[in-house]
Amino acid sequence: MSAEPPESTDSSPARPATAPSRRTFIATTGVVGGSAAVGGLVTASPAFGAEPAAAPQAPPGSRLSLSVNGKRYTVTVDNRTSLLDLLREHLGLTGSKKGCNAGACGACTVLVDGRRVNSCLTLAIRLEGAEVTTVEGLADGDRLHPLQQAFIDQDAFQCGYCTPGQLMSGVGCVQEGHTGSAEEIREWMSGNICRCGAYVKIVKAVQQTAHGRG
Ligand code: FES
Ligand code: FES
Repeated sequence: MSAEPPESTDSSPARPATAPSRRTFIATTGVVGGSAAVGGLVTASPAFGAEPAAAPQAPPGSRLSLSVNGKRYTVTVDNRTSLLDLLREHLGLTGSKKGCNAGACGACTVLVDGRRVNSCLTLAIRLEGAEVTTVEGLADGDRLHPLQQAFIDQDAFQCGYCTPGQLMSGVGCVQEGHTGSAEEIREWMSGNICRCGAYVKIVKAVQQTAHGRG
C-alpha cells in the first residue's frame, strides 16, 4: 500500500521565479532609503563649478553704553542679549542669579533707574544710558546696606540662591514705601520666590530696614 504525499497547507501564492528574495529586497530598499536620508537631511555638496553656499551670517549686534553700580561700560552685544546675560556673561557680575530665566522667580531682580526689573526679561540694548544697580552695588565698601545687615540679623536666608533678588526687590520695596504692614510687604515682594521658605524672616528684614524693627 503506497502512502499519498501530505497535502500542502501553504496557501500563499507561489513566488515567481524572478521575484526578489526577502534578503535581496531588504538590502535593496536599505540602500535606497539610506540614499534618501542622506539626500534629505544632509546638505548636498555643490556640484563641481557651482557657487558655494553663503557663509552663515553673524547675529546682529549693537553698541551700548550704560552705567552699572556707578561704573560706565560700553559694550557690543548680540541684540537678543538679556540684561541678566550682559551682567553675568559680559561684565562678570554674577551676583544676580538665573533661576527660571522666564520672569517667574525674581532671582535676577536688579534696579534700572531705581525701578525693580526682572533682568532675564529685559533686553540689554534697550538700556542705552540707563543706571543699573545690582546686588554687588549695595554695600558701600565694607559697610553693608541696611537691608543686607537686616537679612543677617533676621537670619532671612537658607541656601541663599534667591537672596540677591530678594535684597534688590526689598530695596525697591522700601524705596517705593510699600512697607505699611507685613501683608503689604508680602504683596509687593510676591514676585520673589524663596524655595527654602524664608518668607517670614525676609519680611522681618524689610520691616527692620524700613522701620528700625523686625
Ligand atoms: S531668572 Fe528672572 S525671573 Fe527667574
Ligand atoms: S534662601 Fe534658598 S531659595 Fe531662598
